[in-house]
Amino acid sequence: MKRDVQIIPSLLSMDLSCMRVSLKSIPAEVKMLHLDVMDGAFVENITFGPVFLENLRPLTRKKIDAHLMVANPDKYAPLFVKAGADLVSFHPETSSNPVSLLKRIRAMGSKAGLAVNPDVNEKTILKYLNNADYVLLMSVFPGFAGQSFIKSVLSKLKRLKALQKNYDFKIEIDGGINEKTGRMAIEAGAEWIVSGSYLFKGKNMKNKIEGMVK
Ligand code: DX5
Ligand code: ZN
Repeated sequence: MKRDVQIIPSLLSMDLSCMRVSLKSIPAEVKMLHLDVMDGAFVENITFGPVFLENLRPLTRKKIDAHLMVANPDKYAPLFVKAGADLVSFHPETSSNPVSLLKRIRAMGSKAGLAVNPDVNEKTILKYLNNADYVLLMSVFPGFAGQSFIKSVLSKLKRLKALQKNYDFKIEIDGGINEKTGRMAIEAGAEWIVSGSYLFKGKNMKNKIEGMVK
């Protein structure tokens, strides 16, 4: 795998009817799994709660990256850390005090991330970057798997990349990632690549990952 590039399967597209078996089919080189938490308020859809994560946690040694698409992350982020999330990101416009929430997540022992919707300018997160471990750039509007990659996000990615000179954070990208868009995102400087429907469709996840990072 290219240095510093991680491919992160999004569990929203995994077959959850037999989670143990599905998890075994994820290749060993995958070190992180993405968990999309949707509350039916910040986004239309409803997905996983802390109880789901508590059940998932003992089934895998891979890191769990919880992406909170919720209206009240101040309340829920700590619950996801307690349930076993190694990384927790939230959309700062949903928090009453993003800096204090980032600090709280870190103080509880997890990495803290800022999630940025396609129509949110990266300048709005500058004031939080000193307290964040990563930025999750959305390349679709959050809510559903299987949407098309919004190419204009690549210029935002490049602008964000330039900020890594002054701040210490990783860049994660999420939404509409397949071999082609994954390679474009890696080329533009993304380090963590989330992919759901593309990776879980069919059986050759290992080949798909290799195709993205080669
Ligand atoms: C979208 C979620 C994504 C989603 C990605 O709201 O945040 O993580 O699972 O799925 P694909 O890769 O199918 O766009
Ligand atoms: Zn996500």
